[in-house]
Amino acid sequence: MNTIGSFDEYNKVYSESVSNPEKFWADEAEQFYWRKKWDKVLEWDFSKPEIKWFINGKLNITENCIDRHLEKRANENAIIWESNDVNEPNQFITYQELHDRVSRFANVLKSKGIKKGDRVCVYMPMVPELAICILACARVGAVHSVVFAGFSSTSLSDRINDSECKLVVTSDGAFRGAKSIDLKAIVDEGLKSCHSVESVIVLKRTGSEIEMVPGRDIWWDEAEMGMSNVCPAEEMDAEDPLFILYTSGSTGKPKGMVHTCGGYMVYANYTFRTAFNYKEGQIYWCTADIGWITGHSYIVYGPLSAGATSVMFEGVPSYPDMGRFWQVVEKLKVDIFYTAPTAIRALQKADISFVDKYDLSSLKVLGSVGEPINEEAWHWYDEHIGKGKCPIVDTWWQTETGGFMISPIAHVTKLKPAHASFPMPGVQPVLMNSEGNEIEGNDVEGILTIKYPWPGMARTIWGDHQRFKDTYFSAFKGKYFTGDGARRDEDGYYRITGRVDDVIIVSGHNMGTAEIESAITEHENVCEVAVVGYPHDIKGNAIYAYVISYHKPENEDKERKEIYDIISSTLGPIAKPDKIQFVSGLPKTRSGKIMRRILRKVASGELENLGDTSTLLDPNVVTEIIDGKV
Ligand code: PRX
Repeated sequence: MNTIGSFDEYNKVYSESVSNPEKFWADEAEQFYWRKKWDKVLEWDFSKPEIKWFINGKLNITENCIDRHLEKRANENAIIWESNDVNEPNQFITYQELHDRVSRFANVLKSKGIKKGDRVCVYMPMVPELAICILACARVGAVHSVVFAGFSSTSLSDRINDSECKLVVTSDGAFRGAKSIDLKAIVDEGLKSCHSVESVIVLKRTGSEIEMVPGRDIWWDEAEMGMSNVCPAEEMDAEDPLFILYTSGSTGKPKGMVHTCGGYMVYANYTFRTAFNYKEGQIYWCTADIGWITGHSYIVYGPLSAGATSVMFEGVPSYPDMGRFWQVVEKLKVDIFYTAPTAIRALQKADISFVDKYDLSSLKVLGSVGEPINEEAWHWYDEHIGKGKCPIVDTWWQTETGGFMISPIAHVTKLKPAHASFPMPGVQPVLMNSEGNEIEGNDVEGILTIKYPWPGMARTIWGDHQRFKDTYFSAFKGKYFTGDGARRDEDGYYRITGRVDDVIIVSGHNMGTAEIESAITEHENVCEVAVVGYPHDIKGNAIYAYVISYHKPENEDKERKEIYDIISSTLGPIAKPDKIQFVSGLPKTRSGKIMRRILRKVASGELENLGDTSTLLDPNVVTEIIDGKV
């Protein structure tokens, strides 16, 4: 294993990892338990694209996340669960208990006919059973597809149908702050249009009234009755799929990114230990939801494969008050705390007494993920939470990359606020200009691409390899296209500047403008729509929709509300625009392309410098749009 204790060491390890990547990753992979060792480390060809790591290696990731720790840390906590309800006691789940509970639920999955390669959809709140469920899938070789429990029934059924899931695991409901959400009702609605699903397993969480469909639905507790807590793990090939996770793209339907058993495991583990400078025995807390990649890699697979104690939080940062995160840090004596800029910005606005009344002296390392962290939020995080002594690792990565790509290494990299800084060992970033040429040197800006494979990268889009190729490997020949722009400053530090495609990052989550537009056009009076992002104090970006109606709306507020309702039921509340403006036309070029640049500027209130509008089909629409800005 390569450890990095100083910046000189980082430079040395980095240059070795680039000059001999296969040796570097083989060294990392050695520490794991393989049923059979790989024959070859890497085969790749970005033109196809085909990427294979640890060829013919056999393993099961749960033996690496659980069984191999039992000898040394059976009684240490694998997961500490913190409820949404501040008064509900913690659950402390040791590695031994995790082993037993995962095995028991794996036996349940088998009893429902789930076999290696079958897809299981998981739509659950942040309770320990969510982690147990995905590990149980991995144990029997089933491919889990977690759908964030804030998505609507249509989003859920689209994802279930796309990967033809056989089983859905859900709960009666979910608590989120002061609200409770009837998850089972959403599942029931979604399943009306899903034909692949044979069974539904329902965990009791909120105790709300639900309907159980006879022959299809069973309670989690009942299903577990009489099940053994021993379940031998299925032997998997390193390149077998471990999970599918959907992410929004710039066009059309969400993409089911496929991650594999071997490479993903090695990568999630290496990046977790390295960037956070994790030390044995530390309490680590990532506040993300397991419905996103951050939760997959840095609540479950990364920390557990490293034998760490991972805190799992069901609630929200503002409930019962804005001190919730800090109260938990004090109570559980958290060493490493990893959250998103949107949460930091929201908490920064609250009275500082919500921070100051708690003892945060256990903290050693802080992390940030999901979007560029602005300097103000960075400094607040550093000063008030880290008390100036905790490095902030600003981790840049994506659902597609499986793990951190560009990130400081805690206690090693000299930090620059709001800079993701340097590539992780094994990662080879390249900046490109729009003509397709590499931009060399420092103090430059361009489109961020990666020129060499890393073990954690997604291998395909479920059911659509061509789309995988078109989206990521066609923009720049021989390179992985990230969709982000970046600056490399005079000292070689990378700073991510944001998306260069039609994806908006709202509160750290990917939203495709095309997806939102197509939901809005479902309203019967909507003829055409264009959606753009604009800067927002807390969410980073917010959504602005320009809508052309067939008939001028008689009551704009009523129509706005109807559009909100459609979005809530088709995509989920997180995709709701903050602003909807009714317009009679959109700024289009003569060839019919919508000039989003202009729409973005108007939405952001940058009205002075709109650029040349004379080439537009109808320059007058710009004046109308400016006058009617909401
Ligand atoms: O634009 C980048 C932004 O989030 C995108 C990836 O989103 P998603 O696949 O949902 O994964 C989020 C969690 C990894 C990226 O293309 N992004 C993520 N982290 C950062 C970031 N932008 C700047 N700085 C970051 N640290």
